[in-house]
Amino acid sequence: MTPVPPSEKEPFKVTPWAVEGRIDYGRLQELFGTSPLDDELLSRLRRLLGEPFHPLLERGIYLSHRDLPRLLDGYERGTPFVLYTGRGPSGEIHLAHLIPFELCSYLQRKLGVELWVQLTDDEKFLFSGRAGRSELSLKDTYRLGRENLLDLLAVGFDPKRTHVLFDTLSIRSLYPIALEVAKRVTFSTTKAVFGFRNDTNIGSIFFTSVQSAPAFLPSVRAGRPVPCLIPCGVDQDPHFRLTRDVAEPLGYPKPALIHNRMLPGLLGEEKMSSSADRQDNAIFLSDPPADVERKVSHAFTGGRASIEEQRRLGANPEVCSVWALWRSRFAPDPAEFAEITRTCRSGELLCGECKSRLVPRVQRFLREHAERRREVDAWLDSRIEDGPPPGRGG
Ligand code: TRP
Repeated sequence: MTPVPPSEKEPFKVTPWAVEGRIDYGRLQELFGTSPLDDELLSRLRRLLGEPFHPLLERGIYLSHRDLPRLLDGYERGTPFVLYTGRGPSGEIHLAHLIPFELCSYLQRKLGVELWVQLTDDEKFLFSGRAGRSELSLKDTYRLGRENLLDLLAVGFDPKRTHVLFDTLSIRSLYPIALEVAKRVTFSTTKAVFGFRNDTNIGSIFFTSVQSAPAFLPSVRAGRPVPCLIPCGVDQDPHFRLTRDVAEPLGYPKPALIHNRMLPGLLGEEKMSSSADRQDNAIFLSDPPADVERKVSHAFTGGRASIEEQRRLGANPEVCSVWALWRSRFAPDPAEFAEITRTCRSGELLCGECKSRLVPRVQRFLREHAERRREVDAWLDSRIEDGPPPGRGG
């Protein structure tokens, strides 16, 4: 399948390396062939997971899936699954990057399942320096990778049930599987799926097989089929379509997927992304309190041109980057979230007040996060498959 072709009305594009235009998620589901996370499936998840049900599921941030019912059937019949998610270290971690990790943390806590995390320093090296991205050396991506892992794992995981695949270190475990995958994927398929061209470097073309490997590694290690659930942003789906296509021919179960929508940027962009000239589009986990305050106070909202108009007509949370933050994580209490949404729509809550309520929440979150991050430093290296060689840790 090609990268999403522009629709007649509103062109948009979603690939693992670029998100452009306003995403029409309904149309994206049609184009990608994914299934909606509908009420029936959500009720099933709620029955399985009990209370509290995670806001990311409850509030539609996770919105589509592949094969989730089949994975749950297996689980309910006594076949445990593993979780797999990952991160490409192209820069510092911001709030949007935490979403799949937050879902994994919750699922691990509720179900006791194992988590495999892939850190793709190879990917970000290979794709750097193209399409406006700055050049990154392998040293850069290695350093960023370890820093990123501290942030991502600080979301909260059981070290004994957490495995890290740091690509350039863990390649010994990944490579035999990546080769099996690569042998079954042609250049014309990767061209069609990712938009590669004849002048694309050959590392990039091979890379999707490295991202497929972690979905199969638990089966290889266990010597039997181990089902796998991959929480990821919708933009990563193209990789896993290929993974799923080759799974059964290779004797592995097709991984199931659950996709989150993109968290919008503070400057009103569709995706919270963090290029050098758009630093105020994202809240980084290392942002000092004053930066949080500045970024939130300048953030794009769904408010009206004047206070008078807003009191009269209400605001539109659906397009608001501040509401998206409340929705994702900063109003875990459903009653509070409902109240924020209601008073936003009615015009009782003005944007200035809403923002000043949010700022201390974000600041506190970042403070607590920094503490948890220090704890992860004590165990991270011991969880990296094939371990860091002497002199490369930290
Ligand atoms: N390619 C992803 C990125 O750029 C990183 C990644 C690797 C990933 N494996 C994954 C993301 C599995 C989600 C699920 O961020």
